[in-house]
Amino acid sequence: MNQLKSFPANFLWGGATAANQIEGGFDLGGKGLSSADMVAYVPKSERGANNISIEVDSQRIQDILSGVFQGRFPKREGIDFYHSYPQDIHLMAEMGFKMLRISIHWSRIFPNGDEKQPNEAGLAFYDKIFDELLKYGIQPMVTLCHYEIPLGLVQKYNGFLHRAVVTHFVNYAEVLFKRYKDKVKYWLTFNEINMVTMHSPYTGAGVILDRVPKAQRENAKYQALHHQFLASALATKSLHKIIPDARMGCMLARMLHYGLTADPEDQREAQWRNQQNLFYTDIQVRGEYPNYIRRYWSANNLSLQKQRDDDIILKQNPVDFIAFSYYMSVCVTAHKDQSKPMDGNFIEGVRNPYLPISDWGWQIDPIGLRIALNDLYDRYQKPLFIVENGLGAYDKIEKGKIHDDYRINYLRSHICQMQEAVSDGVELLGYLAWGPIDLVSMSTSEMSKRYGFIFVDIDDEGKGSRQRIRKDSFFWYKKVIASNGTDL
Ligand code: BG6
Repeated sequence: MNQLKSFPANFLWGGATAANQIEGGFDLGGKGLSSADMVAYVPKSERGANNISIEVDSQRIQDILSGVFQGRFPKREGIDFYHSYPQDIHLMAEMGFKMLRISIHWSRIFPNGDEKQPNEAGLAFYDKIFDELLKYGIQPMVTLCHYEIPLGLVQKYNGFLHRAVVTHFVNYAEVLFKRYKDKVKYWLTFNEINMVTMHSPYTGAGVILDRVPKAQRENAKYQALHHQFLASALATKSLHKIIPDARMGCMLARMLHYGLTADPEDQREAQWRNQQNLFYTDIQVRGEYPNYIRRYWSANNLSLQKQRDDDIILKQNPVDFIAFSYYMSVCVTAHKDQSKPMDGNFIEGVRNPYLPISDWGWQIDPIGLRIALNDLYDRYQKPLFIVENGLGAYDKIEKGKIHDDYRINYLRSHICQMQEAVSDGVELLGYLAWGPIDLVSMSTSEMSKRYGFIFVDIDDEGKGSRQRIRKDSFFWYKKVIASNGTDL
């Protein structure tokens, strides 16, 4: 059982980012406003028990647009990658990156989302990024929609709730495929598509739920999601036509759920929560809605409006590979009153007594990654790609250096388990660490929740020199890549 296999010679080591967390330049080069530009910074003391600050509602949007609301919007500023990309990419090349995942701001290409012609300045900006990456032999992976959509589509259609947005998305995707066909071979449609049913206003669905009568809100989430599945399948079809040697992936936030005890009630609860998580890949990989979700809909009086060919479109256009993020596992029980709630943001669950937690309460579980990889591969037999993994932590500068051994330990233990999974026979294409350069946190808009190998001197108030500093983990990851994962 101890035989460990090496990572494949062409294994894609690198990092992953998102436009609204790094770029800045939110009003430059003809870019329109996006849903992420509406997310204001809320200090921790005002954040509430779940410690997230991404709520956007109709009133807030109106107040921002009319100038009544005056806040700071870190996702408009990012880390100024819009200007600093040559220097930042140079540092990633120094670490030996084989791949960098970025996302494209849909609103840089179509400022309102539904124009007839794309914005040339936006297209030219990403050409420069791809050229800079390719200069160093770094392959780009592109997410078409990472937790944002043009505000114009939110205002006009209430995002993906309206079927018209499917057409606008496919048009946007096709413009990108044609433009970058010689430069980009790995694409993802929607980042963490499963977060829509949990937090739809601020994910790629762009649905403002207060515009939907309360009793219809859950149905609205599944309807918007159906439109995203269609948009994703149609974009996959176009990609195969326009760039035959390119690969399309879905992207899931894999939340591995354990039952707290051996009580079958707990195990059943965990199974149901895992099904709710894997429901998305079941559709995007197998091409059809699974029975367990149909049962849930009928028990809850939910139903989808579909057109005649929808099922055929889904069936005929599955993804080529499964990309997923993995940060933590979740523990659940059918007896909530008997256990301590998990104190991390985002996820509902109970504390797993066997696992340590991060500064943000996320349960650290490297073996869970091996389990997740094996489970996904057993279920689908499709190539897998870890496109996000990492530790959000506070960093301290001591005499100009950052000794982030906690980050190294987290990454090392996960890479070890990844190697176990590869040795178990899982087909894994690559590993992209989240936020290789510090960036704005998605859930809290903080800068102090840092993931990077490269420190960026900006604080939660947006102040700082913007200087980039190599952390200890920078030199460690460089060694890992150079040795193809043997020197950990
Ligand atoms: C993933 C997202 O959920 O987690 C990223 O795809 C995000 O956008 C990452 O940044 C980490 O979350 P956070 O809230 O720590 O930034």
